Amino acid sequence: MMMTMEMSQIPFSEACERNKEPIREVLLKYLRRGHLLEMGFGTAQHAFYFANQFPNIKWFASDVAENQHTFIQRQNQTKELPPNLWGPLELRARFDKTLSEQLSPQLSQINYSSKFDYFFTANTLHIMSLEEVEIFCQQVHEILSTGALLFFYGPFKFRGEFTSVSNANFDQNLRSRGVGSCIKDFEWIRDILKNHKIEFSERNDLPANNQLLVFRSS
Ligand SMILES: C[S@@+](CC[C@H](N)C(=O)[O-])C[C@H]1O[C@@H](n2cnc3c(N)ncnc32)[C@H](O)[C@@H]1O
Repeated sequence: MMMTMEMSQIPFSEACERNKEPIREVLLKYLRRGHLLEMGFGTAQHAFYFANQFPNIKWFASDVAENQHTFIQRQNQTKELPPNLWGPLELRARFDKTLSEQLSPQLSQINYSSKFDYFFTANTLHIMSLEEVEIFCQQVHEILSTGALLFFYGPFKFRGEFTSVSNANFDQNLRSRGVGSCIKDFEWIRDILKNHKIEFSERNDLPANNQLLVFRSS
């Protein structure tokens, strides 16, 4: 009985269960072998699922300090931890410390250099403020190897337009929280990344009015 109670306390996202398969189908086209950093693992459902699905990828899962416990809870409940999954790493796009400065000390403990071949983040950019997304886009190239691929999943605006009425309503809801969350413009993100050696590569339209955007570092 205790076990059941503990399991039910692990944060769980129905949306993650619905979107993991469409996301996997796109990742399948791209992921070969190498090191991937995930930012904002949330419930850690994606991290555990994708690590199992992509055994040639060393999946490094990160999130902000307050959310580290969800990964640890899921780890404690999982009988067989995928051997290619590493976490939780602490990472937040912020102004006082770069992504590289935050990751380096954590990765040096496992003799890893903090350069990644792949970067994945799901449903984080609309939660982050404009300033946080901007600082993230300016810094992310520092932790990527040349030719690295980046995958951003979530809702975006294109040419200033929402892709659905429900996304427009969702944006209003996000803004009403008063912490800077909002659906971001694809072109704004694309242009900041372009100024930092990262080119837009592909837009994948996935269910529920979400996109999986692919970028490549040079
Ligand atoms: C809506 S949850 C998405 C979680 C998960 N990736 C998913 O798809 O369900 C948003 C995530 O963004 C993370 N986050 C919020 N602000 C952040 C920041 N400034 N830097 C990095 N991650 C951030 C949160 O901790 C949370 O895990």
